[in-house]
Parts: sequence; structure tokens; C-alpha cells
Amino acid sequence: MSSSYHVSAGASKEERYQELIPQLEASLSVHDYSISTLANVSAALKSVFGFFWVGFYLVDDDRMYLGPFQGDAACTFIGYGKGVCGTAWMMRRTMVVPDVEDFPGHIACSSLSRSEIVVPMFGSDGSVIGVLDIDSDKLADFDEIDAKYLEIIVKIVCKTIN
Ligand code: SME
Repeated sequence: MSSSYHVSAGASKEERYQELIPQLEASLSVHDYSISTLANVSAALKSVFGFFWVGFYLVDDDRMYLGPFQGDAACTFIGYGKGVCGTAWMMRRTMVVPDVEDFPGHIACSSLSRSEIVVPMFGSDGSVIGVLDIDSDKLADFDEIDAKYLEIIVKIVCKTIN
């Protein structure tokens, strides 16, 4: 894949997702190396939404390791059940955290991070293979619209890399 992503000026958050998704579907290729796909998806999300931090953690045995991301340097690994990412892995569901200080065990990679959304990625055998993690420097920056469309994006990504 080699392309950049465009959304209409003034588009709402939901419209941005709706414009981005078909572009991702058209451009992601099963023939690309998985890490390259994840790198370009994190770049696409950063450029379309300007997220403070967006990236992937990838499961290897009993930990997830930092994968492709956009933003400041981050924690290199997270244990099963640890932090928001490890909890999304354990619970096998999307976690929306409006205030990270209210989440027991939150792992603060950046003191500027205030809210967070984490979407689990599933392999073809149904196991969790990683998570998409997005952080904001604003409180309560993620809602059910982000959860709905990021889950669609993660499904497209997993279909591509699995
Ligand atoms: N806050 C995450 C750790 C990853 S960083 O935000 C990039 C967590 O609690 O799992």
C-alpha cells in the first residue's frame, strides 16, 4: 500500500470515520507485511483525527509489545490484565476510559494522557492478537461513535493481517 488519506474539510468525527473506512478497505493489502499495514493505519488515524497518541500493542505469549505507533515514545510491553490495554485483552472488549485517573491500574506512558480508548484485535482463531490504543490529552474525548467505527477499522485491519 502506498497512499495518503483525505477527508472533507469541516467533516464531523462520524463523517471522517465514514470517509476514511472505504479508503482503508481499498488500500490495505493482504500482500503487505503486517507491520507495514499497522504502521500505515496508525499514520492514517493520526493524520485524519490528530490523535495525541495512536498505536498498536501486539500479543506475544503473556505480554503485549509496543508495535507501530504515532506519538511520543511509550511503554515497550504490557502484561495480560494490566492497564487499560491488558484489560481490553483479558475482557476481549473495547474499553472507553473518560478519565484515566479513575481507571485503577492505568499505565501512564505520558502524564499528558487524560482519556483513552482501546479496541482488541482478534486473530482468525478468535484469540486476541493485540490491541489498538488511542490516547487523548483531553478528558472524555472518546465515545460510542469512536468505539463503533474503530471496531470496524480493527476488523478490516485484522482481516488484512491475519
Ligand atoms: N495507558 C495504557 C498504556 C499504553 S500508553 O497509553 C501508550 C494502558 O493503561 O494500558
